[in-house]
Amino acid sequence: MDELLKIKDEALSQIEEVSTLKELNDLRVFYLGKKGLMQAAMKSMKDMSKDERASFGQVSNKVKQEITQSIEEKKEALEEAEMNAQLLEEDIDITLPSNALPLGSLHPLSVVKNDLEELFLGMGYQVAEGPEVESDHFNFELMNLPQGHPARDMQDTFYIDEKTLMRTHTSPVQAHTLLAAKGKGPIKVICPGKTYRRDDDDATHSHQFMQCEGLVVDKNVTMADLKGTLEVFAKKMFGEKRKIRLRPSYFPFTEPSVEVDISCHNCEGKGCPMCKHTGWIEILGAGMVNPRVLEMCGFDSTVYQGFAFGIGLERVAMLKYGIDNIREFYNDDLRFLNQFTRKG
Ligand code: PHE
Repeated sequence: MDELLKIKDEALSQIEEVSTLKELNDLRVFYLGKKGLMQAAMKSMKDMSKDERASFGQVSNKVKQEITQSIEEKKEALEEAEMNAQLLEEDIDITLPSNALPLGSLHPLSVVKNDLEELFLGMGYQVAEGPEVESDHFNFELMNLPQGHPARDMQDTFYIDEKTLMRTHTSPVQAHTLLAAKGKGPIKVICPGKTYRRDDDDATHSHQFMQCEGLVVDKNVTMADLKGTLEVFAKKMFGEKRKIRLRPSYFPFTEPSVEVDISCHNCEGKGCPMCKHTGWIEILGAGMVNPRVLEMCGFDSTVYQGFAFGIGLERVAMLKYGIDNIREFYNDDLRFLNQFTRKG
């Protein structure tokens, strides 16, 4: 019995001291294994009396249990310590700076286009699209510019063949939209897109440029609606203090037609080089949709009226960002483009 208790004390204190799972396992084999101390102690039972054997058996079982339990507890503690050590070793230093990946920036024309879309979507418009390679029929005829009309000269055209051309404005999208609506309003669309004219490129002209068309058709649309809409556009694009003024003009597809000026955002209307010392900047063309256009595109002009406008995107971007050469938009010079960083 004393022997058993001695084995137990020794085992427990040795278990306490080991520091690796391997050592612990060696101890388990040494004490509890088939050729271990406990097994050897059991062997002496055969020489004992029945009573002795019973109490010896009891005690030895308890000793075995205690040693087993102690080994189990130590094993758990060692495993945990091992895992913690491993975690500590594999610790990732998240304060290390990462390699900066260069992020491109949005092209200024994309910025203006996105801003316009956001603005007009917020007023209930939808974004329409149309082809850049367009038929003479849509680009001119349906826009009330029949063959030989003098106003065709205002828009020098790249022809592909006699009946096909690069659209000179986004206005043909008006015709596509009206025809698709099959004579039924309301219609509220904008169409930003590329346009082409046979211009000699200089600081303010480019043979390829961008416009944003607007078209609203409904039963009670007036010039006041057009004016209110353009006022919102002017304030949102160029600041809340902007005013607009309408000057009479001429487009075959609108009647009456207007040229729209906004008060100069650069000098607050006092006069500066940007507004050529007039306090006003010409920004877009607009007007009430010519009833002839409505009729040609399947709308009853005694029931429906509409307004339309065409905004030059380069012009808006040049005024907004103080860019004085339209060629900057098409030169792909990173020193220029990188100035327009992503929002957010
Ligand atoms: N299409 C005209 C242009 O390119 C602009 C415009 C659009 C004018 C719609 C009136 C209405 O000059």
